[in-house]
Amino acid sequence: MIDGAGSFGPRNLRGRALRLRTEAWARQVLRDAPPETIAARVAGHRDADGQSLDERTAAVEFLNLLRPTVAIARFIMFAALALHLHPEWRSRVAENEESRLAFAQEVRRTTPFFPVVGGTAARDVEWDGVRFRRGDWVILDLFATNRDPQLWPNPCTFAPTRFMSGEPHHNALVPQGGGFYEDGHRCPGEPATVDLLASAVGRLATAEYSRL
Ligand code: HEM
Repeated sequence: MIDGAGSFGPRNLRGRALRLRTEAWARQVLRDAPPETIAARVAGHRDADGQSLDERTAAVEFLNLLRPTVAIARFIMFAALALHLHPEWRSRVAENEESRLAFAQEVRRTTPFFPVVGGTAARDVEWDGVRFRRGDWVILDLFATNRDPQLWPNPCTFAPTRFMSGEPHHNALVPQGGGFYEDGHRCPGEPATVDLLASAVGRLATAEYSRL
């Protein structure tokens, strides 16, 4: 499903087929959920007007939490590769929280595994001198924005230090969408992703391994 999300054609269709199968699995998990678990909370969730979720919606929402959380493993794998390629960072990230966070951000900047996000314009709109008509397809190139030389000096160099002098502009670092959480579609799981990734980077930095 994660593979298929950023693709077109057969891979995307396969992703959708897997999603349907997984929804059936999730419905069963929610039916059997032991009390006090996240699954039980989703199954028992009530909207502001007291309405409970129907079984399918609950299953989809459960997967909407589970699937992207599992996907963080991809960033962790890219972080392991980055530590391997830049071993000078191992001791820094093992010892220092600020370095861990900066390293995690640089991994997200250089290896955003969602290449683009797309959508259709909900109404006629002009943005930054470009006109979109209602229904026009708009593609935001996450990969290229994260490497735009106007936003990032030496964009192809892996340099976590670029994140050590303050937060980047909200539309410059966009591996999980642009804009704001409050009024847009920027990924609300982004802060959790950064924290989990930084924590994994700390563990990877002290892990022993050998090349096969
Ligand atoms: C591997 C890390 C992740 C990546 C690469 C990722 C990427 C994205 C992207 C590209 C979007 C669309 C943004 C847009 O349309 O502008 C998105 C939206 C979303 N993400 Fe994530 N995400 C990740 C982790 C998470 C986590 C951990 C959660 C929650 C547990 C989460 C929940 C969501 C939700 C609910 C949306 C829909 C937001 C909306 O449409 O308003 N994501 N994510």
